[in-house]
Amino acid sequence: MKFFVDTADIAAISELNDLGIVDGVTTNPSLIKKSGRDILEVTKEIAALVDGPVSAEVVATEASAMIAEGRKLAAIADNIAIKLPLTWDGLKACKALSTEGHMINVTLCFSANQALLAAKAGATFISPFIGRLDDINLDGMELIADIREIYDNYGFETQILAASIRTVNHVSDAAKIGADVMTAPPEVIKKLAQHPLTDAGLAQFLKDAESAGIKIV
Ligand code: E4P
Repeated sequence: MKFFVDTADIAAISELNDLGIVDGVTTNPSLIKKSGRDILEVTKEIAALVDGPVSAEVVATEASAMIAEGRKLAAIADNIAIKLPLTWDGLKACKALSTEGHMINVTLCFSANQALLAAKAGATFISPFIGRLDDINLDGMELIADIREIYDNYGFETQILAASIRTVNHVSDAAKIGADVMTAPPEVIKKLAQHPLTDAGLAQFLKDAESAGIKIV
């Protein structure tokens, strides 16, 4: 499973990237707003920092304007994935921009049929939003499973990018189903390393090391 970081915070991306676990980055207008940075500047900086795809989202809603914005975002760097919302116009823009050879991340996917359309329109990534479905008492993970089944039935190469991940269980559940990629905030990615038995075990080892006078360097 590829790990994307869902943030426009350069320091947070750098810390995880230094660990070698970052396969890409996703941003959206809300994350750009939170960064307080100019979208073109911060996206350029992120794209230079990481090797993998960096999703940058259009803000136009009409297909020809989305295409123009998408081309401008793609010109920032070779590893930009143009992020387009799953609307009818977004699908038109997806078809046009993917035909030009750009990577496309179709976002705000909430149904298996939407995912089917995005794959047929040439999306590189489809982003089903797990957390936002869970928020309204629907099962986000069931959507990941449905899309996996449908894409496998027909051999679609569009990668399932599990998005709107809020918990560590979202990550392991999406991995068990076979999502190709997950994107999560840095805080959730760091929590993947935590376990109370690790903390308790280490505390005991350190106590014993101290009482036995164990020194290594
Ligand atoms: C990913 O591409 C999305 O921008 C992101 O995962 C949305 O997450 P949220 O529902 O927590 O805002």
